[in-house]
Amino acid sequence: MLAGPMLEQTVQIVSNERDTDSYFRLVLRAPQIAPLIQPGQFAHIRVLPLQEALLRRPFSIFQVEGDTFSILYKTVGKGTGALARMGAGEELSVIAPLGHGFTVPKHGGETPLLVAGGYGMAAMYLLAQRSPQKGIAFVGGRKRIDILCEKEFQALGWNVRVTTEDGSHGAKGLVTKPLIAELKRNAKGRKLFACGPTGMLKAVAKIAEEFNVPAELSMDEHMCCGVGVCLTCVIPVKTGDGPQRDGGWEYQRSCTEGPVFDARQVAWEETK
Ligand SMILES: Cc1cc2nc3c(=O)[nH]c(=O)nc-3n(C[C@H](O)[C@H](O)[C@H](O)COP(=O)(O)OP(=O)(O)OC[C@H]3O[C@@H](n4cnc5c(N)ncnc54)[C@H](O)[C@@H]3O)c2cc1C
Ligand code: FES
Repeated sequence: MLAGPMLEQTVQIVSNERDTDSYFRLVLRAPQIAPLIQPGQFAHIRVLPLQEALLRRPFSIFQVEGDTFSILYKTVGKGTGALARMGAGEELSVIAPLGHGFTVPKHGGETPLLVAGGYGMAAMYLLAQRSPQKGIAFVGGRKRIDILCEKEFQALGWNVRVTTEDGSHGAKGLVTKPLIAELKRNAKGRKLFACGPTGMLKAVAKIAEEFNVPAELSMDEHMCCGVGVCLTCVIPVKTGDGPQRDGGWEYQRSCTEGPVFDARQVAWEETK
């Protein structure tokens, strides 16, 4: 889905509640932004009480309901820590919706197989909700608390297959294991969509190639400006069209040409 209009606005927090452990759900009232949001797009948020407030933080847009949208975030540092201390009625500065998101499957088209690690599930909820075909969501994490939105995806009628590395929830192992088993069973008419750590995305790209299925990956690179100016977020992307690429590559910006890229486009051998 191509990036469309974006807005910079000061918006009000409706709620900001702990989900599990270090994960929080933040709901923002943004009547002008909410209708513009496409699956896989993100919001660039300035946490106003933070001293270094100039630096925004990017978050995938999780859900859209009426005139609100929400994000699901993990507290990992200063910005997310300050965000977790904010409450209903307080304000944030938001630029959204940003980026080139996922392609929503067409009626009668490929069956979507979603692959998510950790908060990667948040980036794919709208895709699952807006897809006319219900598919399978493969969700992985280190332990039980890293498995997010399982019930929400089930409520949409999706088949959810959980894996944890320590076996505390679902099957023990990596999320790619049940994915490979499913593709061995039937790879025809399937399309992969993935969001999560780079190692997982790289593995998904390899699996897509092996089984000859299309795949779209949301690449969560570190970002600064979020609007295509600073080049902090570039990734190497192959140049040339079709399977006969010209062997070259160029840098593209995850914040504008991405964060979602065709897995075949990414020049993995050039990534750091
Ligand atoms: C397109 C996009 C979508 C994202 N969606 C989500 C989301 O839905 N939920 C969510 O919890 N997080 C998401 N992130 C990651 C989120 O932006 C970072 O966790 C956040 O910026 C950290 O801010 P901080 O000030 O708390 O951490 P800092 O104090 O800046 O850093 C703390 C730690 O987090 C690491 N970190 C910072 N940015 C990133 C990043 N982009 N990816 C991985 N590690 C990072 C740093 O290396 C450091 O180890 C997304 C990132 C991108 C680029
Ligand atoms: S974050 Fe500045 S160009 Fe992408």
